[in-house]
Amino acid sequence: MDKALNIGRTGLISAIDIGSSKVCCFVGRTGSDGRLKVLGLGHQAAKGMRAGAIVDMEAVRTSVLAAIHGAETMAGETIHEAFVNVSAGQPVSGALNVEIPVAGNEVSRLDVERVLEEGRHRTAGTDRTVLHFIPVGYRVDAQAGVRDPRGMYGETLGADIHVVTAGAGAVRNLTTCLNACQVEVSSMVVSPYAAALATLVEDEMELGATLIDMGGGTTSIAAFINGAMVYTDAIPVGGNHVTNDIALGLSTPVSQAERIKALYGTVAAGPGDDELQIDVPILGEEDSGAINQIPRSLLVGIVRPRLEETFELVRERLESHGLGAAARRIVLTGGASQLQGMKQLAEPMLDRQVRIGRPVNFAGLAQAACGPAFSVTAGLLKYAAQRHAAEPGWVNAVSSASRGMFGRFGGWLRENF
Ligand SMILES: Nc1ncnc2c1ncn2[C@@H]1O[C@H](COP(=O)(O)OP(=O)(O)OP(=O)(O)O)[C@@H](O)[C@H]1O
Ligand SMILES: [Mg+2]
Repeated sequence: MDKALNIGRTGLISAIDIGSSKVCCFVGRTGSDGRLKVLGLGHQAAKGMRAGAIVDMEAVRTSVLAAIHGAETMAGETIHEAFVNVSAGQPVSGALNVEIPVAGNEVSRLDVERVLEEGRHRTAGTDRTVLHFIPVGYRVDAQAGVRDPRGMYGETLGADIHVVTAGAGAVRNLTTCLNACQVEVSSMVVSPYAAALATLVEDEMELGATLIDMGGGTTSIAAFINGAMVYTDAIPVGGNHVTNDIALGLSTPVSQAERIKALYGTVAAGPGDDELQIDVPILGEEDSGAINQIPRSLLVGIVRPRLEETFELVRERLESHGLGAAARRIVLTGGASQLQGMKQLAEPMLDRQVRIGRPVNFAGLAQAACGPAFSVTAGLLKYAAQRHAAEPGWVNAVSSASRGMFGRFGGWLRENF
């Protein structure tokens, strides 16, 4: 998935989050103090997307162009390539265990590259594209859970690899769309992984935490143990479903349902909910100004079941993958995590400590762009900066082909040691 990076000389990095509700673009650079600085940002309502996937290429292209233009104008720079998130193509996690003989010798860097290359061969396929290839641990003979096997002695070297793949067609659609905007894709990142990079602190990743990105059309999961992402998944339910439930339940236009949700929506019933009356414009009668008055408790009764269903699905996914440790702490982010009372609902349902996450440690992020809806874009920028720091030699002049397989594994190694 990797293309040459344009950041060698200028240090400029770009990120584009194409979501179901909005397209967002950040341009940034790592400052001399080591902090990532956002120089420009643009965002635009997403047209032509459904549940994280492109359903109208031209409409998406128009939205992406507008977001890019906004970021370019603010930064005074031109974007030629960008890191992009993937929500489409049903990104799934797979576990891969590979082993090579090392004949009693000291494990060298080359051995590590060989065992990873062995894994890489096994993931080759045509209908799925590999997005992430993360060595989560090594084995030297019977000793499992080795973080860095270099310098150890044994007969065999094994690697446990977490591979994330997505449907090749969906990935190709994304690339085509960005190319049509004159932007090369530097690398693709599964959405919740990006969101986790922006919101989780190092200790959370080390000790075990699960990020849940609650977007408009999708709710996606990334679980971390010992600093590595060990599982990712996505459920095609999001905040837009809540809005639609409100529109249907209260017979009001979707735009009004969205407004009512943001202003009065909550999943935690409170005293006074029966007394608080909400004005609801009636669908088809907006011109006459006709309204219904409903108590807030009715709104809670519409909103809450959808969120309960969503957290139930998340709980099932985590349990079926045996992610007790990774779920010890849950961080909710994404636009839909802003609904009042989410922490109170999620904590007992997931039986874990829950907090709402937003981008941390970014300089230059305007107040409006440091909310949970911007976690994925901010995380993509952080991923880009980390990749640049790990592989400063990756400049424009070096084509992805000439970098070769080991060049890419080199990147993964540096990311993981
Ligand atoms: N203040 C708020 N309270 C409740 N919900 C909100 C609020 N602000 C935004 N939302 C909801 O957040 C959702 C959009 O979130 P976000 O911008 O993270 O989605 P996205 O990235 O475009 O979509 P996806 O990640 O699913 O592709 C919408 O459903 C919107 O209604
Ligand atoms: Mg999103």
